[in-house]
Amino acid sequence: MSKYTRVRGTQDFLPERAELLHFINESAVSFFENYGYRLIITPTFENSELFKRSVGESTDIIQKEMYEFKDKGGRDLALRPEGTASVVRAYIENNLGELPKPVKLIYVSQMFRYERPQAGRYREFWQIGAEAIGSPDPALDAEVIELCLNFLNSLAVKDLKLIINSMGCRNCRPGYIKVLKKFLSEKEALFCKTCSQRIEQNPLRVFDCKQKECQKVLSEAPKISDYICEEDKEHFEKVKIYLKTLNVEFVIDPHLVRGFDYYTRTAFEITLSSLGSQDAIAGGGRYDYLIKDYGGPDEPAIGFAFGTERIMLAFENQNITVFTEPEPDVFVAWVEEAQKSDALRISAMLREKHLRVSMAFDSRKLKSQLKLADKLNANTALIVGEEEIKSGKYTFKDLESAKQEKLTIEEVVNKFKDNK
Ligand code: HAM
Repeated sequence: MSKYTRVRGTQDFLPERAELLHFINESAVSFFENYGYRLIITPTFENSELFKRSVGESTDIIQKEMYEFKDKGGRDLALRPEGTASVVRAYIENNLGELPKPVKLIYVSQMFRYERPQAGRYREFWQIGAEAIGSPDPALDAEVIELCLNFLNSLAVKDLKLIINSMGCRNCRPGYIKVLKKFLSEKEALFCKTCSQRIEQNPLRVFDCKQKECQKVLSEAPKISDYICEEDKEHFEKVKIYLKTLNVEFVIDPHLVRGFDYYTRTAFEITLSSLGSQDAIAGGGRYDYLIKDYGGPDEPAIGFAFGTERIMLAFENQNITVFTEPEPDVFVAWVEEAQKSDALRISAMLREKHLRVSMAFDSRKLKSQLKLADKLNANTALIVGEEEIKSGKYTFKDLESAKQEKLTIEEVVNKFKDNK
């Protein structure tokens, strides 16, 4: 065993999982294209300040989970813990607001959070995220939520539960915060240390606590939905009506407040109980002030992100297999070292004709090469010996029936034509 092991909370994606991840990412990009989304790639690290400002100083992500470091130039940087802040920064910096609204962007990238690793929770993980910027229309909320759910449906992920809530806006939230603060202060002794600090700093963030005792007290806390203004109520009503139009089933959770400070109005999560304690497969919501707060135009927006590994776990739990090891169409074997270069050349020729080809390396007897072909589940073998090279006709062996015939390279290619 080498002394080098992967860092806690990170993962090696071995071929089967790597291919599945790649498949899900690619499927998302083309699925989202049908809704008008285009791919955006932003840097893995940004100025720490960007995340502190948007996600919120008193959130778990900023207080406990961000990978922060100084570069050799003394800059305060952070590995991105989430994608929304980066997309919004890029949107403003590159004047994407000039495009027709809403501007719809999808990203497929790794995120980094220093959380306690467990099944479905990693320190480096993948997200598929979508951001639709430049419209306050509740119909857009419904379209975004339906996209989120519909993509999971397209992958045949079952037993999903959609939870929605309205988190109010800057006009009505302060009123709610006042009432919440009063409630929390009265019960302060019952909360953990982090929660009691947050009661003063940012009472909404007390809801993010995962401790059972705190959650118990919170179940009786005043509900944000009882304090939202008329405009927000109307917005939320319309979202619900549009979701019904789209036949999207949902449950309202009046305590859903999501762990970021930038959210306003509609917030939602999709959960899958078979995932266990990390059951959120996707989460998102509106963030109507973030672009303006960053110094951009006054443009409301909404988005969400999937945890891609959690989609993969859902596949595993449902026994959905997408990939098996690809078998070579042809295994090219050589009789003596002298024909190795011809075998190399012929392999290249066959690949040019879009065949999947493997050949043997190192010093091996023909018999051991054919054993290797078997292990690789190759369908056929092409044997390259001195005779074959002279005549231009090669021994082509069907490895299942053991039948063999002499064929030119062109005839070998033609054999596969109908199946390709
Ligand atoms: P989030 O709820 O923090 O939202 O993350 C979205 C999803 O990422 C979660 O539902 C979960 O599936 C996955 N996830 C989060 N943390 C981990 C982890 N440590 N390991 C594995 N998967 C994880 C956001 O990040 C927002 N930026 C979403 C958004 C976009 N809101 C508006 N636009």
